[in-house]
Amino acid sequence: MYELAITGGRPLKGTVRVSGSKNAVLPIICAALLAKSPSIIEDVPDLVDVRSICTLIEHLGAQVELEGGKLRITPPEKPDTEAPYQLVRRMRASFLVLGPMLARAGKAKISLPGGCAIGSRPIDLHLKGFSLLGADITYGYGTIEARARQLTGSRIHLDFPSVGATENILMAAVLAKGNTVIENAAEEPEIVDLANYLNSMGASVRGAGTKIIRVKGVDHLTGTTHKIIPDRIEAGTFLVAAACTGGEVLVENVIPEHLQPLLAKLGEAGVPIFEEQGGLKVYPVKQLRGIKVKTMPYPGFPTDMQPQVMSLLCLASGNSIITETVFENRFQHVSQLEKMGARIKLSGRSAIIEGDRPLHGAVVKASDLRAGAALVLAGLAARGESRVGRLNHIDRGYEQFEQKLRALGARITRKIRAEKMLHHGVHPGIYIGQGRRQEFPGEGKYQ
Ligand code: EPU
Repeated sequence: MYELAITGGRPLKGTVRVSGSKNAVLPIICAALLAKSPSIIEDVPDLVDVRSICTLIEHLGAQVELEGGKLRITPPEKPDTEAPYQLVRRMRASFLVLGPMLARAGKAKISLPGGCAIGSRPIDLHLKGFSLLGADITYGYGTIEARARQLTGSRIHLDFPSVGATENILMAAVLAKGNTVIENAAEEPEIVDLANYLNSMGASVRGAGTKIIRVKGVDHLTGTTHKIIPDRIEAGTFLVAAACTGGEVLVENVIPEHLQPLLAKLGEAGVPIFEEQGGLKVYPVKQLRGIKVKTMPYPGFPTDMQPQVMSLLCLASGNSIITETVFENRFQHVSQLEKMGARIKLSGRSAIIEGDRPLHGAVVKASDLRAGAALVLAGLAARGESRVGRLNHIDRGYEQFEQKLRALGARITRKIRAEKMLHHGVHPGIYIGQGRRQEFPGEGKYQ
């Protein structure tokens, strides 16, 4: 319905405050269902994804009030046991209610989740974890059903350090009987935030932020007050936006340590960034150099910054190579950047970006959240006017994106698109993203 009209070529200048982390708050909202009393969550960003997960937990019986960045969640005595398709289809993180539902209600039925179309995004590792905790899992026609009268602690080795699987298993394990060890766990700062919230509710979680997480099951949890960590990806997006435009911007409310993998690469590319005035300050770039980037689980370079950094590297002198190892389909912004004058060659999981190619304005579309951000940054750097469509993706994860950019001097406005909206039919429960088939057709039992 809407698009962003951007007139590029103006260096960003000023100060921007980063909101609370989207990827930290979503699991924490689900985890609030584990307690028997209300929690207050602070610094909650007002995002479409946050509202969607709140609607889902309301459906499960919770009461939710969101005002001025403060979220009060009163969990139900016992959560409802069914999460329907129309509520979970909107985003992948909906699947994170499964662990808490199973732990509190002993059973859960949930449709397979939707989300950004950046890969097939299976859920086998979540199910492996629940199964090892003693749950009986069946699936059929786009629905997963899990049952466990009493979850029991176990040793769970993840084949890949999946963020979502680590979170889901952790939430189920805190109320399990006995001890659980999660090996090859994800180490992202959002996992540490979740563990801190769980511990402040009375859980016993040690080792979050390392590869081995140890959980001692407890009988019950009590609601608490918790402040969400700053969004490292939003912070990174503003740092790169400043660099793309040759601007000078102070990014406030950041934890520099969480941004180290990105800061190291931006430094290599010649972007001057310093810790100053309690934040991170980007100074105008003198000469941007091409670099090699490989996305990896934390503390590697974040896949959620790959598209934005690609926009930046289109402006560098010399070629760059970006290798995407986390998601297999996260290069959909390439064709859109090419419309703006970029020259990028795809070869398997790598993109070779030709440097020294000034960008020009074009009409482009966001295919997913971070791709949308990348196109906005390219538009800010480009000569002339750009229009970025499919803003529903951007609204999922950036709070007041264009308002914050405008306050930094960007010429960016949201307009209603002239063209008529196209509707795509999607068969419930079977397809995710752009007509991609989910991994669970037919029926069966997980073992
Ligand atoms: N994977 C499996 N099996 C599983 C789970 C994951 O094979 O059971 C694979 C995925 O297919 C993917 C890889 O593991 O190739 C990484 O997936 P992961 O589970 O770590 O990602 P996620 O939990 O689905 C979260 C973020 C993403 C972010 C990734 C990686 C949330 C709500 N989402 O997704 O954020 O890209 O971790 O860091 O926390 C975004 O914010 O734009 C976004 C997509």
